[in-house]
Amino acid sequence: MLNSSEKIIPQLAAQLLSAQRIVVMTGAGVSAESGISTFRDSEDSYWSQFDPMTLASLDGFSDNPQRVWHWYQWRRQQIALARPNPAHVGLAHLQRRLPLYLITQNVDGLHQQAGSQQVCELHGNIFINQCVSVSCNYREQHQDNASDLITCPQCQQAYLRPGVVWFGECLAAERLEAADLASRDCDLFLSMGTSAAVYPAAGFAALAKQSGAQIIEINPAATPLSEHADWVIRAPVGSVFERLMPLLS
Ligand code: OAD
Repeated sequence: MLNSSEKIIPQLAAQLLSAQRIVVMTGAGVSAESGISTFRDSEDSYWSQFDPMTLASLDGFSDNPQRVWHWYQWRRQQIALARPNPAHVGLAHLQRRLPLYLITQNVDGLHQQAGSQQVCELHGNIFINQCVSVSCNYREQHQDNASDLITCPQCQQAYLRPGVVWFGECLAAERLEAADLASRDCDLFLSMGTSAAVYPAAGFAALAKQSGAQIIEINPAATPLSEHADWVIRAPVGSVFERLMPLLS
């Protein structure tokens, strides 16, 4: 396993240019340099301050929809102020040049804002509202001015909830299948800015490894994936992309 060194960024550039099929998996650390909190790696992260079962589960919503809605409204406001950083912009650029499939656990839409056309949003998107009733398929783009709980305009019976995956819920089957297929079929898998702690997202690197792909992790901290990675770059991903992109243009 290589650690962060002067040579590692040129080596990463060479690997990217020679790979046939690349999969990139991003997590909250990729948006950290845009000012959005992560979930579990520091005192400021969301799950260090708030109980995930209260705010990110169907039971929590059923128990107190107002509390959950307002928490997501607060996050939406924070995210709306954020701008893509060099990692988002670099990945969008690489996607235009290289065979790169982008999977994200992030719900903030910053990859798309940076220009990425195809993004597999495994955990949904915070700017979507959807009906909480399983028998109603209503979905809409969130409107900024809607600050209070909204009753579903289609079924008129249940509240709208944010379009993100909550604890205990299944991921959308088509996204899960697409991410699974891409991971099994790649020869280079980059995991960046994720604690690699939440499944099924955390399992895709292992699928890629089983198929013979090189695994590279970019993260300032160790994760359960680190010991299985072929290389680890221990640095913030934005600074890695600031050094990487001039080598690729
Ligand atoms: P976590 O908060 O669990 O992990 C963030 C990771 O990013 C940590 O390993 C940090 O070391 C790393 N990190 C922090 N700053 C970084 C930087 N500048 N560059 C690179 N890495 C950095 O976030 P996720 O792994 O994304 O679920 O969490 C997975 C899921 O758990 C989230 O999608 C969310 C949460 O519950 C849903 O919202 C459904």
